[in-house]
This record gives sequence, structure tokens and C-alpha cells, in this order.
Amino acid sequence: MEPFFCYNIKRGSDKISHRSVLKKKSTMSEKDFFLSQTMMGQVPLSARPCQSLQQRAIQNKEACVPLLKKTEISRSSESLKKNLSSRRSRRSYSLETLSLEELSYLIWASQGLRFESSGAIWRTAPSAGGCHPVQLLIAPFRVEGLSSLVYYYHPFDHTLYPYLQIGNSEDSFAEACLGQGFISEAATLFVWVVDIEQAVSRYGKRGYRYMFIDAGHICQNLYLAVEDLGLATCAIGAFDDDEINSLLELDPSWYWTIYLAPVGRR
Ligand SMILES: Cc1cc2nc3c(=O)[nH]c(=O)nc-3n(C[C@H](O)[C@H](O)[C@H](O)COP(=O)(O)O)c2cc1C
Repeated sequence: MEPFFCYNIKRGSDKISHRSVLKKKSTMSEKDFFLSQTMMGQVPLSARPCQSLQQRAIQNKEACVPLLKKTEISRSSESLKKNLSSRRSRRSYSLETLSLEELSYLIWASQGLRFESSGAIWRTAPSAGGCHPVQLLIAPFRVEGLSSLVYYYHPFDHTLYPYLQIGNSEDSFAEACLGQGFISEAATLFVWVVDIEQAVSRYGKRGYRYMFIDAGHICQNLYLAVEDLGLATCAIGAFDDDEINSLLELDPSWYWTIYLAPVGRR
């Protein structure tokens, strides 16, 4: 397959004509397209040498350095240690509502603004080159003060804007996530969508790698904030791309849903 996309993109400020590229992209499957961008598909898995990285490293036992246990570390905060220690994926939620205060905290902690200066912004999650291509949609199934719409989160004013009405959205999302029924029992659903043009705007094809890493940081922040409030969440990467994008009326030429997380009470 002829590599066509981004190979003429240089580092820095070069802009691409995303639209022309996408015409060609439409001839490839999503998987082939992703692999062609990341080069990951070019590594034959069967080619691993007989000795793994771990086997090679642990041979040198004499020079190994045992680290301090978390209980022996006095400089760290107890709350961070506690949240890291208790964090886990929780797939069972009570049917109670979440308060707007709780949701506000979770959203801020996961990827809200922490600093703004002269139009430049810094957020609670890191993002390669500060591009922040991962956008947040919130589907509140049971959150005080919110309708059963899908909302778009705008980080600049820390505000939810109505985006879309989906009938029976709890079940529709669970269905699109390959029938993972516990999703429909959550009080709310975080849906992370990448703006592809924003993702490749700075680093070209490298942006295809960074956007997934960015999303991982955001979701980990959410896990820790959820733990902080004594709530429950579970990262969701198993879903039908086409189904979820069509549910959210997203044009996959421009936006990809890449990650989700239901949140509820334990
Ligand atoms: C990228 C990613 C995708 C995941 N997708 C799902 C999913 O679709 N459904 C699910 O129940 N758990 C999912 N998980 C949660 C993992 O199963 C979970 O993190 C793992 O079993 C380790 O358990 P822990 O999070 O409690 O430490 C996902 C986690 C990650 C990081």
C-alpha cells in the first residue's frame, strides 16, 4: 500500500490539507490507516529474540537496587498515596445521582484549565506540544441539574454546552460499547473525541501517536479524581468506532471517538 499521508509534512508549523488526504484515506480500512501512520504494523511480532528485556535485565542481581516501599517515603502526600493505592476499574454502580459539584471537579481534574496567559492555556493533563486535541463530551444519565443531553465541555469557561439529544442514550452507548451493560448503570459517561486536524497540526503524523497518549493522561487523572471522591469508574476502549461516531453524529473524517469512561457511585 502506498504511504500517502503526512510523509511530506515537516516538523513545526507546516499545515496540511487534511481534506485532500482524507479522500485517499477513504480507500483504506481504519486499521490500515492507523498502522500506516504509526509504522507499528511493520514490526513482525514473531521476531522477538529468545531473551526478553526482563530476562536480560534480571540476570545482574548483584548490582540491583531495591527501592523504598511507599510506607517508607515521607515526602509524598498521604492522599495521593491513598488514591494511587486504591485506584481500580470499577464496573458496578449504584443508581444514585451525581451532584453538579462532583461532576465539575471530575471534569476539571481530568483536563480542566490550571493556568491561562495571553491566550495560551495549560491544563491539568499534559498534551504533546500543548495541542490538546482530545475534546470531551459528557452524557449525564443522572446528574443533578443536567438534562439527558450530550454536552460539549468548553475548557476556557469551564462550561457544558448542549450538543446533541440521543434517545435512550444509556442503552445506546452501552450497545455501541459492544454490549458492556454496566455502562448504562453509571450516573454519567465521559466520551473523549479527538479533533484529527488539531492532533496533526503541530507534529504531523507523530500526532497520531500522541493523541492516544494524551487521552491516557486524561483518563488517569479522572481515575484519581474519582478515587478522591469515593466514586467509581472504568476506562472503556472496547467499542464499535462506526457505531459510536454515528451515535454522536461525528464525521469520522474529522473526529474520532477514542476513549470513554462511565462514572457512578459505588
Ligand atoms: C486502554 C484501555 C481500555 C480499556 N477498555 C476496557 C473496556 O472496554 N471494558 C472494561 O471493562 N475495561 C476496560 N479497561 C480496564 C482494564 O480492563 C483494567 O484497567 C485492567 O483490567 C486493570 O485493572 P485495574 O484498572 O483495576 O487496575 C481498559 C483499560 C485501558 C487502559
